Amino acid sequence: MSWVTKTLDSTLGRKLLMALTGLFLILFLVVHLAGNLQLLAGDGGDAFNVYAEGMAVNPLIRAVSILNFSFIALHVIYAILLSRHNKKARPVAYAVTNPSANSTWASRNMGILGTVIFIFILVHLRGFWYRLKFGTPEKVMIDGVEYKNAYIIVEEAFKNPIYSGFYVLSMIFLAFHLYHGFASAFQTVGLRHKKYTPLIQKVGIGFAILVPALFALIPIVMYIQSL
Ligand code: HEM
Repeated sequence: MSWVTKTLDSTLGRKLLMALTGLFLILFLVVHLAGNLQLLAGDGGDAFNVYAEGMAVNPLIRAVSILNFSFIALHVIYAILLSRHNKKARPVAYAVTNPSANSTWASRNMGILGTVIFIFILVHLRGFWYRLKFGTPEKVMIDGVEYKNAYIIVEEAFKNPIYSGFYVLSMIFLAFHLYHGFASAFQTVGLRHKKYTPLIQKVGIGFAILVPALFALIPIVMYIQSL
């Protein structure tokens, strides 16, 4: 066994992998949000369609996309491995626990939160990504150039209150997952500092609220616009 596989097989290695993949996915969320906010530009979707096509053809972005999918898979697989290991290490629950005094609700429910987010990602990819890549999306002309009409796929989807509601609800789960995940990832990679840790925690809380709130704003606004 090489030192890489040995490290990845240890509890610490698994936690490190969760943290590093989590931090990458956090970065992805910021870029994805910035792109998606163009859905609200009020230009009939032109900016968003040009952006989506650019993402699809740029070889660097395509490489990052493969990394993205691999990291989502690794993050999920290692989460399952870690929680199975924790259960094995303590098959009998503590007789006396005071969970709310020792940990946050989010930290104790990362598995449930993560599962809901994973289901959200599957539904989300089927609804948008799969239809754009493997379906036959409508085409639209922008400044004499033909683009796939990604905007209309999103617009049609968010007309449905159940679909939009599912997005908003999932973003609440994402907020709690990020609330714990952000600070926890920084702690795991060893960034613990008397001065900076409280700052990282504050940034983490801001991030966990702002990013999901802005994602949720998109289906809310697009649903209202469709009425
Ligand atoms: C209102 C919220 C959102 C909208 C409108 C949206 C829209 C889209 C669209 C149109 C695509 C396909 C085109 C593309 O690859 O850029 C996509 C891909 C994707 N979305 Fe979202 N998204 C939203 C939120 C999210 C969230 C919260 C997550 C993760 C928790 C997420 C994860 C992904 C992933 C992993 C892909 C595949 C990206 C790739 O090809 O690497 N999305 N999204």
